[in-house]
Order: sequence, then structure tokens, then C-alpha cells
Amino acid sequence: MVQMLRLQFVRVSLLASKSSTTLPLNLTPISTQLPRTTRLRSQMASYSTSSHSSKLLFRQLFEKESSTYTYLLADVSHPIKPAVLIDPVDRTVDRDLSLIHELGLKLIYAMNTHVHADHVTGTGLIKSKVPDVKSVISKASGATADLYVEPGDKVSFGDLFLEVRATPGHTLGCVTYVTGDASDQPQPRMAFTGDALLIRGCGRTDFQGGSSEQLYKSVHSQIFTLPKDTFIYPAHDYKGFTVSTVEEEMKYNPRLTKNEETFKNIMANLNLSYPKMIDVAVPANLVCGIQSKAI
Ligand SMILES: [Fe+2]
Repeated sequence: MVQMLRLQFVRVSLLASKSSTTLPLNLTPISTQLPRTTRLRSQMASYSTSSHSSKLLFRQLFEKESSTYTYLLADVSHPIKPAVLIDPVDRTVDRDLSLIHELGLKLIYAMNTHVHADHVTGTGLIKSKVPDVKSVISKASGATADLYVEPGDKVSFGDLFLEVRATPGHTLGCVTYVTGDASDQPQPRMAFTGDALLIRGCGRTDFQGGSSEQLYKSVHSQIFTLPKDTFIYPAHDYKGFTVSTVEEEMKYNPRLTKNEETFKNIMANLNLSYPKMIDVAVPANLVCGIQSKAI
């Protein structure tokens, strides 16, 4: 079934590490001129149910220690039901994989929006348990992964795809994954913003190459320009919120509704404590969550 996936649309730079010098097993090149760039898409089928589209299966999963959201998306109209996980956490990998098994999905990508400082990614653990899964992160993150994405890339699973938007500022390599802009893609669109934009907040900008100026520009140019009804699904929430919209955040976000100077002032005076997990999480997350060269 894996061979049914074929490359199209997505340009994904392949990792230059020894674990990734060949094309991933679930990808088949459509051109012989694809040394470092590929395009992928899978075949479509004809049945499914979902609240967002006839093809999308969507689950928002929560990890309570770090208040992290992990998102599961799958194209259930495709025969193999290809799925992606966005921002998995190491502590909840077994829960996530068991759900994926129960739903009869085929996990193909474990993706991160950025190198997290507050928890260890589940990506490496997932790869050790399901070897076909490919890890995905932005090239700008500097982290190890099977596939690197860059702004404008499309990550396909079945007939659905996520568009990659660069949203640096919380970290240098932050990206936002947005569901596709096409009539056969979920409506309204859904933006997985990582820590760039939180519900009524945003990620801190004082570590990991952060920059409040850059974050302000990222959110305004890459997220607030999306259709107003686009759902915002952040990587964290500490107040119990689960989802917002572009329109809501443009109206009510207490930081991003301000002008740039005021925003920079707010971010410079948060007086946040040193992240308790940063010294463990960042080194681990730079190598997929497991400090092993095999990953
Ligand atoms: Fe973060």
C-alpha cells in the first residue's frame, strides 16, 4: 500500500544526513531530476466523514504536563488513510499511536512546527516504534529530520495537503502549517501556528533566535492575511481554550492587536522565568527527540 503514494506538488528538501540519503520508503519520484527536491501526493478514494471536509479526519490531542496540543489529520477517503501528526509529545506517543491504530490510519509524517523548549518531541520515539514514519521540520530550525520543509512547500497526505508558511520570531525556524487553499480541501481553512500565535497570546521571543520584531511581522504577514474564518490551532493553551479564528485574534489578541512598537515593548517586559525544560528539551529536539544518531 505504501507504494501507492506518489510524488507530486510538494517540494521537500531531503536531509543530508546518513539516515536520509535515499528517498523515503513511502515516496516514489516522478522525475529523475529530483536530487534534493521532491513533490508528493497520494491517490484519492471515495468515502469518508469529517466535520471539516468529506475527506479529513481531525483530532486535537492534549498533553497536560506541558499543555501541548498534538494534532492528528488524515485523509480517510484514501484507501490507506494516510495521516500526519503535528507536534507530538514523547509522553503521549503511546496514546497517539494507539488512537491511530484504532482508527485504522497509516501514519506517514510526524511533523514539528519548531524546536520546542518546553517538552521533548515524540517524533524520535514514533520513528523507533513505526519505522516507516518520516520526521518533518523546517530547514531553518537547524534540527535533524528526514524531510526538511521550506516556505511554500506543500506536505500532502492522500488528497489533502498542508501549506508551509514561515513564521519565525518565537524561534528562528518556526513554521505554520495551513490546510490547502482549494475547493477540495477543508473549509474553513485550519492554521497550526505552533507558538507563533497562541489564543489571545503568542510565544516568548527571548530564546532560540527569537525576535519580537520578526514575530510581529510573521503573524501579520503570514497568519492575519489568511481568510478571517481560518481556524487557529496553537501548540499550547494554558487557559482551556482549544481553537480560535484569525478574525478573533485580529480583534482580541492583547499583544498582536497593538502596533509593532507597543508589541516589542510588551515582549521585552514579560519578565518570564527561565524555561524549566529548555536545557533538556532543546538538545533532544534538535535530534528528533532522541539523542541517537540512528534517528
Ligand atoms: Fe516553543
